[in-house]
Amino acid sequence: MTASMPPEGENLGHDLLRSVLDAISSVTELDALADTVAKLVTDAVGADVCFVHLVEEPSTHLGLIGATPPYNQHRGKIRLAVGDGIAGWVAQAKTAVMVPDKWKDTRYRYMPELGGENFAYLISVPMMRPQNKVVGVLNVHWKVPPADPEAVMRELQYVANLFAANVELAALVETLERREKELEQFATSVIDAQELERKRIAGDIHDGLGQLLHSTLYHLDAATYPEDLVSAREEIGVAKDLLERAIAEVKSTISRLRPRILDDLGLLPGLSSLAASMARPDVAIELPEALEHQLPSSTEIAVYRIAQEALANVQKHSGATWSSLKLWEDPAPDAVLHLVITDDGDGIEPERGEGLGLVGMKERAELIGAKLDIYTRRGHGTRVHLRLPL
Ligand SMILES: Nc1ncnc2c1ncn2[C@@H]1O[C@H](COP(=O)(O)OP(=O)(O)OP(=O)(O)O)[C@@H](O)[C@H]1O
Ligand SMILES: [Mg+2]
Repeated sequence: MTASMPPEGENLGHDLLRSVLDAISSVTELDALADTVAKLVTDAVGADVCFVHLVEEPSTHLGLIGATPPYNQHRGKIRLAVGDGIAGWVAQAKTAVMVPDKWKDTRYRYMPELGGENFAYLISVPMMRPQNKVVGVLNVHWKVPPADPEAVMRELQYVANLFAANVELAALVETLERREKELEQFATSVIDAQELERKRIAGDIHDGLGQLLHSTLYHLDAATYPEDLVSAREEIGVAKDLLERAIAEVKSTISRLRPRILDDLGLLPGLSSLAASMARPDVAIELPEALEHQLPSSTEIAVYRIAQEALANVQKHSGATWSSLKLWEDPAPDAVLHLVITDDGDGIEPERGEGLGLVGMKERAELIGAKLDIYTRRGHGTRVHLRLPL
């Protein structure tokens, strides 16, 4: 009844086992391993084709990773949702099935490129790992049904499980290699972006600050040899305006750059060094040894910038004899990071309004989902308090 008699029964195990062990010990690459599995399986059970489907993490899909030629050319192009088609069903049910007539089986999904119409009989088995984990599915097809499908199915299950560990390992290695490549590409694109940013900043400095300083020099030159004192004053006045614009330009350029100290030292030592660098008044520092919560880099920058501006204001405007910088974390479950900068100076005059510094601090706080409060009273100092939910 069968054209090519498949080897059947438990005693076909030895030759097959040897071939499987040979393949397991010699083939490591996933594509090659999958094709080897397909060939071994078809030869061993006298089938016509075998498709090897891999369960892709996170276990929602199966992808074709190998097959008997010429169907292996569709590797990487055929995907099935777990639960979809016979292979998808087997991956979900974690049990082998025999499908004597796929056209009558509602689970079957016809894919023209895999030539389902050429094969009458199908056995599908899961590749099982311990703890009931399915690594993949073997779909094995015959033109002429095998004489003892029960025995063939048992044999296939045995082979599928033997290969499961190797297929899983090869897939993991491939994933790792792909991630490593992606990481490399990411690093390159970060470096490219940095290079672009540097060019942009260099251009900004050249066209903005550079031009302003040149013009300033030109006007100061003119003031050095004046026709009369009035025109000298005028020239110096223009030069002063230009210098003010240059200072604004420097500020905006600097604010776009990340403080290097955070890269070199991290947030806490960065804050220490910032406080130590303040000329007057001295800043008393209270910082924890380390932070419980790792902060994203953008958050670190914002916290550092806020401390920097608050301390600069203390130095520039407060007339304080004493100031302090404190940082601490409230414990979970409602973990909050606090940064408080206090001075005993004059307090903020209400009519002075907010300059760029105060506005910038608030904006930065908002961007990282934090709250910034400023408590101040004339003659009683100022306290800037940042609260960042973690
Ligand atoms: N700690 C402080 N003590 C007293 N006055 C302060 C303090 N911080 C801010 N001020 C007052 O609030 C004003 C606004 O501060 P803000 O930081 O916004 O601007 P600025 O420091 O004047 O300029 P910029 O920060 O843009 O260089 C200041 O000009 C100052 O009068
Ligand atoms: Mg300021």
